[in-house]
Amino acid sequence: MKFSKFGQKFIQPTGISQLMDDLGDALKSDEPVNMLGGGNPARIDAVNELFLETYQVLGNDGSFNNSDETNSTATSSMANYSNPQGDAAFIDALVGFFNRHYDWNLTSENIALTNGSQNAFFYLFNLFGGAFVKEKDSEEQTIDKSILLPLAPEYIGYSDVHVEGQHFMAVLPHIDEVTHDGEEGFFKYRVDFEALENLPALKEGRIGAICCSRPTNPTGNVLTDEEMAHLAEIAKRYDVPLIIDNAYGMPFPNIIYSDVTLNWDDNTILCFSLSKIGLPGVRTGIIVAAPEVIEAVSAMNAVVNLSPTRFGASIATPLMKNDAIKDLSDNDIKPFYQQQAKTAVALLKNELGDYPLSIHKPEGAIFLWLWFKDLPISTSELYEILKEKGTLIVPSEYFFPGIDVSDYKHAHECIRMSIAADEDTLEKGIAVIGEVVRGLYDKAK
Ligand SMILES: Cc1ncc(COP(=O)(O)O)c(C=O)c1O
Repeated sequence: MKFSKFGQKFIQPTGISQLMDDLGDALKSDEPVNMLGGGNPARIDAVNELFLETYQVLGNDGSFNNSDETNSTATSSMANYSNPQGDAAFIDALVGFFNRHYDWNLTSENIALTNGSQNAFFYLFNLFGGAFVKEKDSEEQTIDKSILLPLAPEYIGYSDVHVEGQHFMAVLPHIDEVTHDGEEGFFKYRVDFEALENLPALKEGRIGAICCSRPTNPTGNVLTDEEMAHLAEIAKRYDVPLIIDNAYGMPFPNIIYSDVTLNWDDNTILCFSLSKIGLPGVRTGIIVAAPEVIEAVSAMNAVVNLSPTRFGASIATPLMKNDAIKDLSDNDIKPFYQQQAKTAVALLKNELGDYPLSIHKPEGAIFLWLWFKDLPISTSELYEILKEKGTLIVPSEYFFPGIDVSDYKHAHECIRMSIAADEDTLEKGIAVIGEVVRGLYDKAK
């Protein structure tokens, strides 16, 4: 069968699709696998109990024929399409929730729902990246604009979302050695603002939006308030939006340990998700933005989905109204991952304390980012060896959308490991990583 150029772009095998297949196969395999590779959230008892209670209440609510949108019950909402902007009752609950906790003065015109935030990034990166019609008369009719990622490494899932080509530009980080809980052996990435401000593309109007994940997948880095304020100022100066991917951020799931704040204004597009509170299967993303962005996203929803899924909205509406989602995030989800990070760091130090391992300061998200300085092989090769031994991680080279990593050694020396696994899996997986990496360094001595 012949597929269009559009189709070809999506079905081409990519490194990451191969990797995702490996992760999927591992989950189905009969052999025990130390799964430190995926982005799945952990099973947390308190979380599961609350969701189970909520499902039961939804199942018993009974009023199937209620067609009043704003007073809809769960079953009635699932028996009807919402409008393309998303479930109105959930949007109202979100407006109330955000205005209770932040001084953003949102209305329902500031929020749209999507089928997961990956779906939101597909829309946003195609809205703000690619060919733009030139505003003034000029010889060329269009100008190509990119999404600027101010701090690479960044989220692997951004890489292939453009319907045509790839439109990313990224800035390599400053790498600072830091201590963590009084211990050596950690580093932190910081935005290289000098390189960023000197990007010709910024001055030439070839940037369509600036985007960062905070906390960052894969590194667990949290951009400081100063860095965010500086990015917001640059975005305003060049009249482009600042997109903040808040999949792990505050106020839910709040997997963020550094003392920072979250700001929004009408030049900011904030993306939230229900996935990392423990509901990745309900595919619910939330965009908070200026009304013109919400209208564009709603129009895209209409074409792509008719209307976004309402199941996650039904579960989350009561939890948003009574702040249970925030309590769960503050009291269960955040402390759980903070403890997991501590456990994983201690295990890693135990295995590789005398070797050139440096760990990105764990500031949030559900991963640790490990840097094996001067490792004799690339971490893509290391990935294959670890896979053979039943341990899955993700090598670093895929996390640099917008950068040609062929000459950038650091991009081949890191791995991302998930900390969402249970303690036994963490112990076994880290023991395998330790044994293999020690062997590699020892052989090269
Ligand atoms: C940083 C980041 N953004 C977005 C997503 C997409 O999440 P979802 O589509 O499940 O909301 C993920 C998922 O792993 C992520 O890590």
